[in-house]
Amino acid sequence: MTKNRSENLNTSHQDATYTLGRTSHETTRLIEQSRIYGESTHRLCKRAGIINGMHVLEIGSGAGDVALMLAELVGPTGRVVGVDVNADILDTARQRAADAGHRNTEFIAGDARNLNFSDKFDAIVGRFVLMYMANPGEAFANLITHLKSGGIAAFQEPEYTLYPVFLHPDTPLMNQLITWILDVFKHSGAHLNMGIGLYQAFVDARLPPPMMHLESPIGAAKTWAGYRYMATIFQSLLPLLEKYGLATAEEVGVDTLAARIRQEVIASKRPFFLPLHVTAYSTRQV
Ligand SMILES: C[S@@+](CC[C@H](N)C(=O)[O-])C[C@H]1O[C@@H](n2cnc3c(N)ncnc32)[C@H](O)[C@@H]1O
Repeated sequence: MTKNRSENLNTSHQDATYTLGRTSHETTRLIEQSRIYGESTHRLCKRAGIINGMHVLEIGSGAGDVALMLAELVGPTGRVVGVDVNADILDTARQRAADAGHRNTEFIAGDARNLNFSDKFDAIVGRFVLMYMANPGEAFANLITHLKSGGIAAFQEPEYTLYPVFLHPDTPLMNQLITWILDVFKHSGAHLNMGIGLYQAFVDARLPPPMMHLESPIGAAKTWAGYRYMATIFQSLLPLLEKYGLATAEEVGVDTLAARIRQEVIASKRPFFLPLHVTAYSTRQV
């Protein structure tokens, strides 16, 4: 049976509760996240063809990590406009752009679905943002109207539906963390299949089928930053885990979590898997 768009992307009437909260822990987590996922976002933007001099719209900027990377890519003759619905976090983004000496970057507080610009952009980029929107396909199609003919769409979203493939009898802690993550995102109303769903978002918006890659940062080295990053994820998720009755602070044990994950990796001789994500890009033809 052919599924329509709303069935495939599981649309709802309401945006997801922003699962990771809006605290200073979350700002720290976003910066840590960029240390882990930044390289693949950079690779996505390079592969997609974002170059010097381009004008780029970046949605869901958070603490500004993607915008900062784009500011380097487009150089002083280019321009980056970052948008986030959370006005407070943009103060951090602005400060970081100023500290890095980027004069080509501006941040606008607002909903990415209600933007008005007099000029169209050479590229639109978003990382880990469509999954929180009630109707990501519609939001994406709307965003593409801000793209020039020949302009680039480059997006990166998590794919949680595949995460359970890493469950293993020798890794009870990792299994528990994966289960909690899936449960809390499900309860919040986020789209667990947004990574793979990017394909549908692109073709429904009449973009050519995107080039796509699936990645998961995995690690086993004693000093790998992923253990601490997982603990910061749980620091941000904790309020909702407790609110939904999925886990208590004692059960999660954020303070010792990174060390316990590392111990399990050493004992099980299996690497630890962070959430998978999909990158997708293509170029508007008309
Ligand atoms: C998981 S964070 C990712 C931040 C950043 N893209 C990064 O990867 O570091 C998602 C961000 O999207 C923002 N966001 C969610 N829905 C939005 C919307 N409708 N319009 C603009 N920003 C939105 C949130 O406020 C949050 O800062």
